[in-house]
Amino acid sequence: FANLPMTYEGYGSRIGVEVGAKLDWCDYFFLHYLPQVLKDENKWPCLPVSCRKVISEYGEKMVKLSRRLIKILSIGLGLNEDYVHKSFGGDGESSACLRVNFYPKCPQPDLTLGLSPHSDPGGITILLPDTDISGLQIRRGNNWLTVNPIPNAFIVNIGDQIQVLSNAIYKSVEHRVIVNSNKERLSLAFFYNPGGRALIKPADELVTKDCPALYSPMTFSEYRSFIRTKGPSGKSQIESH
Ligand code: OGA
Ligand code: NI
Repeated sequence: FANLPMTYEGYGSRIGVEVGAKLDWCDYFFLHYLPQVLKDENKWPCLPVSCRKVISEYGEKMVKLSRRLIKILSIGLGLNEDYVHKSFGGDGESSACLRVNFYPKCPQPDLTLGLSPHSDPGGITILLPDTDISGLQIRRGNNWLTVNPIPNAFIVNIGDQIQVLSNAIYKSVEHRVIVNSNKERLSLAFFYNPGGRALIKPADELVTKDCPALYSPMTFSEYRSFIRTKGPSGKSQIESH
């Protein structure tokens, strides 16, 4: 199940990093759930035997929840309720993937991070964090605030594509993960994203003389390859394009 450099699928740690870069103290399993053509259960772990079935059911529920949330975000912008869904490519093209993160205990947690600062490049992220231990931090100005997990609650992140579509009315959240010397941590990040071919740009209705378009149109697949070659660097990718 070793991860593939082109599709990221499988088990591994961050790839494509420059020589000398600080590595993330994190291993992950990454799989595609949508679109249907990219979903390949044969690439998912086969053990425990319930794994594929449970992931399939979890994915189905997460897609439903994501679609409700993007409806609410559309309405919040004063747009048609299916605006974001259509912009993402609709039922056939919208994509979704799951990243299961494992942060092992770290003997010297001050010297590294579980995940370097980044914003999620896609639409929205539904995170199920370990309830026993915190680790996720979000940036507020120059401070990092720890997000304490609440049992049976998800954490929802706005991603860069929602920032672009909304012409920065909704802002993606910069976050990172710190590690711990006496406890390991597990999290499930479910990403709900535009399809690769979807051209994402500020909604026409939100662009006026006083609020010009802040971003030029880019397909999600162009945006993602741009990020993957650069590696995580806070929110610089969206502040510069
Ligand atoms: C991610 C992420 C946070 C966490 O996978 O993009 O930000 O708490 N995960 O593991
Ligand atoms: Ni993230």
